Amino acid sequence: MKPPDKGEEGDTIVQKLSKDSLTIGGHTFTFDSEQMFQLVGVPLVENCLSGFNSSVFAYGQTGSGKTFTMWGPANGMLEEHLRGEQRGLTPRVFERLFARIKEEKVKHAERQLNYQCRCSLLEIYNEQITDLLDPSQKNLTIREDVKSGVYVENLTEEYVKNLTDVSQLLIKGLGNRRTGATSVNAESSRSHCVFTCVAESRCKNVADGLSSFKTSRINLVDLAGSERQKSTGASGERLKEAGNINRSLSQLGYKLE
Ligand SMILES: Nc1ncnc2c1ncn2[C@@H]1O[C@H](COP(=O)(O)OP(=O)(O)O)[C@@H](O)[C@H]1O
Ligand SMILES: [Mg+2]
Repeated sequence: MKPPDKGEEGDTIVQKLSKDSLTIGGHTFTFDSEQMFQLVGVPLVENCLSGFNSSVFAYGQTGSGKTFTMWGPANGMLEEHLRGEQRGLTPRVFERLFARIKEEKVKHAERQLNYQCRCSLLEIYNEQITDLLDPSQKNLTIREDVKSGVYVENLTEEYVKNLTDVSQLLIKGLGNRRTGATSVNAESSRSHCVFTCVAESRCKNVADGLSSFKTSRINLVDLAGSERQKSTGASGERLKEAGNINRSLSQLGYKLE
């Protein structure tokens, strides 16, 4: 997804919000979770099974539906929100991923295809990384090495085998975000939230019986609100926070250009 052109996000307010449409600054957007999933989620799952990494970023101003799109209603904090008709992209992706893994295992049974998936959930607030699966870990460090690439040191990773495991992990982790509420000024709208799944597959080559491995990564990101952070009148924490959000979103914009 490409961020809107600079200056477009301004201080527009969300005027109307109905079940499937949203009016922002006079423009009405209609969307449907299943359509979004077909467009973005299905290719993402196929990429993952082919050994490629994929990332989805929800970018936009506060109130535009980023959190709803990524997890589901009420910040995806209840099982029913992650299972119901309105469930977000993340539960749909994992539902599909586990179903496809099952199919692939049957298809490649003679090669003993096997998958292991592990997930982590983190929040970036004021340039500090908190482990949402173990919030006592508050100021984690980003490291890079030749073997693992860029990674967050000591970040909790939990193995998941099915959608229930993923739902339980999300309910626990999203509940640890700074503020669960969806009010425009809630702190959750000023932090980035990153859900990562690493899928490792192993299978035997028929010809020589040797094992081969494939690793791929899915990143699902709920970004902080992109509204122009008002610096007039802002001081202390609020000002620092605004600067950090603007800096990280523009860095991301440069990377995606
Ligand atoms: N497609 C939608 N259908 C119904 N309600 C929605 C939809 N998208 C967002 N909402 C509601 O609008 C409000 C703002 O959405 P939210 O996802 O919290 O925005 P953001 O994360 O971008 O700040 C929330 O109360 C959310 O439940
Ligand atoms: Mg949000």
